[in-house]
Amino acid sequence: MKIPLFDLTRQYDELREEVLQKIDEALSSGRVILGEAVRELEKNIAELVEVKHAIGVANGSDALLIAVAALGIGPGDYVITTPYTFFATVSCITRNGATPLFADIDPVTYNIDLDKVEEILRTHPERERIKAFIPVHLFGQAIDLERLEEIKVKYGIKIIEDCAQSIGANWKYSDGTVKMTGSIGDISTFSFFPTKNLGGYGDGGMIATDNDEIAAFCRSYRVHGSPVKYIHDMIGINSRLDELQAIVLNIKLRHLEEYQKRRREIAEKYAEHFERAGLGSGVSGLVSEEKDVKKPGQTLYPIPHIHDCYYPHVFHQYVVRFEGFSREERDRLRDHLASRGIGTSIYYPMGLHQQKCFEYLGVPTGSLPETEKACEETLALPIFPEMTDEEIEYVVEKIGEFVKNER
Ligand SMILES: Cc1ncc(COP(=O)(O)O)c(C=O)c1O
Repeated sequence: MKIPLFDLTRQYDELREEVLQKIDEALSSGRVILGEAVRELEKNIAELVEVKHAIGVANGSDALLIAVAALGIGPGDYVITTPYTFFATVSCITRNGATPLFADIDPVTYNIDLDKVEEILRTHPERERIKAFIPVHLFGQAIDLERLEEIKVKYGIKIIEDCAQSIGANWKYSDGTVKMTGSIGDISTFSFFPTKNLGGYGDGGMIATDNDEIAAFCRSYRVHGSPVKYIHDMIGINSRLDELQAIVLNIKLRHLEEYQKRRREIAEKYAEHFERAGLGSGVSGLVSEEKDVKKPGQTLYPIPHIHDCYYPHVFHQYVVRFEGFSREERDRLRDHLASRGIGTSIYYPMGLHQQKCFEYLGVPTGSLPETEKACEETLALPIFPEMTDEEIEYVVEKIGEFVKNER
């Protein structure tokens, strides 16, 4: 069997006719930049996220870069974020001249630990310079939005939600209200990179906000700071969303619900197979991300108990932890799977504080232990809506082979 980590071609087989027809219409009309499809997508995303404005940009990295600029954050300012994320979450801070402050992650969800965030907000010697917090809903799992809102109010800081991996994920509040990831930040950002839950056939991104002024800033900033053509109020960048990508994304958006459902189903089947194979937590050292996680006011797993309209996890990635594995053992497992046709990935091989380009921040290895441990012990397994039940079973079987015989 050949099971890639992610497969774009199977989905394209199902959408080919419609995609080609709509692209043909656009090309025949000659409108290929910031046209009707982009406006339609902006309206659709604003509706999905439940905010007033959505602004299409060239990619999720630019969305973050523009979001930080829109909050007026620059040299001398600090921004709290996670070291366990894609590079762009942190480079958007430093490229605007500000300095990231890292809080370690929760070892179960891999999301930033909000206790540690509050600790920084309470104890940092230059507290008044902390202007914002960028939480990432990592791997598609929503962070506690209720608590995020409390932190925002209690400490008076701005929040930029990085929703690159979490489109459509939401959170149930203690009073039963369900809110979307991306709806509670001052700004939120999205990526439509092809592998994302809503992915184009090229780059794309989106900024969402309820704030009229921020929205106007972002609309202008994405076209060189030019609210009126050739009149520049500020020095922005060129970050337009391609019309052809918007066409593809509008088509895929109509299927998002079914794609999310299948991702959850796959996650559930993985968990069942692991359990059946005796690979559940503690038995052979394999700890699934889906182990019985009980949070106050909510049961994340097992998934079938979650009400249909409630998606705290949209499984952008299915990441398992091999507790007690050394980096070398985890990498050997990865090779074992690759030689049996199974694609995997490591999100992420090192904390961002350990990257060469961020050495100047002076955050030593050893200071963010949960992040560093996750970098050594975790592995992302194949997950995409078109993955078959047989493929899920095969992946678990091959992991079992390694854990029992070759470790
Ligand atoms: C958490 C996170 N933030 C930001 C980005 C950047 O998005 P893009 O690749 O569209 O620039 C990504 C995408 O990889 C991501 O996973």
